[in-house]
Amino acid sequence: MTEPQNSDISNSAARRPKYDVPSGVIIRAVEPEDATGVTALANLPGYRWGTMRLPYQSVSATREKMWTGGTGLVGLVAVQEDKIVGMATLRRFEGRRSHVGTIGMGIHDAYVGKGIGTALLSALVDVADDWWALRRVELTVNADNTRAINLYKRMGFEQEGLLRDYALRGGVFVDAISMARLRGSAIHT
Ligand SMILES: CC(C)(COP(=O)(O)OP(=O)(O)OC[C@H]1O[C@@H](n2cnc3c(N)ncnc32)[C@H](O)[C@@H]1OP(=O)(O)O)[C@@H](O)C(=O)NCCC(=O)NCCS
Repeated sequence: MTEPQNSDISNSAARRPKYDVPSGVIIRAVEPEDATGVTALANLPGYRWGTMRLPYQSVSATREKMWTGGTGLVGLVAVQEDKIVGMATLRRFEGRRSHVGTIGMGIHDAYVGKGIGTALLSALVDVADDWWALRRVELTVNADNTRAINLYKRMGFEQEGLLRDYALRGGVFVDAISMARLRGSAIHT
């Protein structure tokens, strides 16, 4: 019997470097019982600075937001010693934008710069490319969030636009950058 042929049109998996998950960290699907840990993450000042979270996020608000995506949502958490240290989601749009997904993510303030964001984003790019065949993955990031922008560029995202006074952050309007990655784009190591 002949081996099944690999019919992946872009062969993008072969072109993507594999990032190791940092030692001691597990990446898995988010579960309802993670709501408390995810809320604790969202209430950290650094996490809030880089995301659109408001202060005093409640566990019930987390529950409402997290599990409304159905089959169009992949939600991941990074766990170290039973503590949730990172969170990332990929949401797929519908209808004429069903080839597009959007990413949101954040790492615990005390665990940034350890490769966890790279591992989470790499896992979501795998899903986008190889399991959903998304043509386009997009995101918005505060224009002064250099660490995040560098991570996204490394994973093949490119800047598309500047969104002026995009959001209020601690009493100041801040600009954001819209970025997107088209399937098959190069990922830089
Ligand atoms: C932005 C954010 C998601 C990045 O995640 P992270 O886990 O800190 O990122 P990583 O550690 O994977 O990569 C960051 C840097 O650490 C370096 N690094 C350190 N140790 C590493 C390791 N063991 N493996 C890989 N990279 C490592 C990377 O090379 C990278 O360097 P660079 O910025 O020069 O490219 C995270 O800092 C964060 O959540 N910040 C607050 C919330 C936020 O801004 N969210 C983004 C919303 S758009």
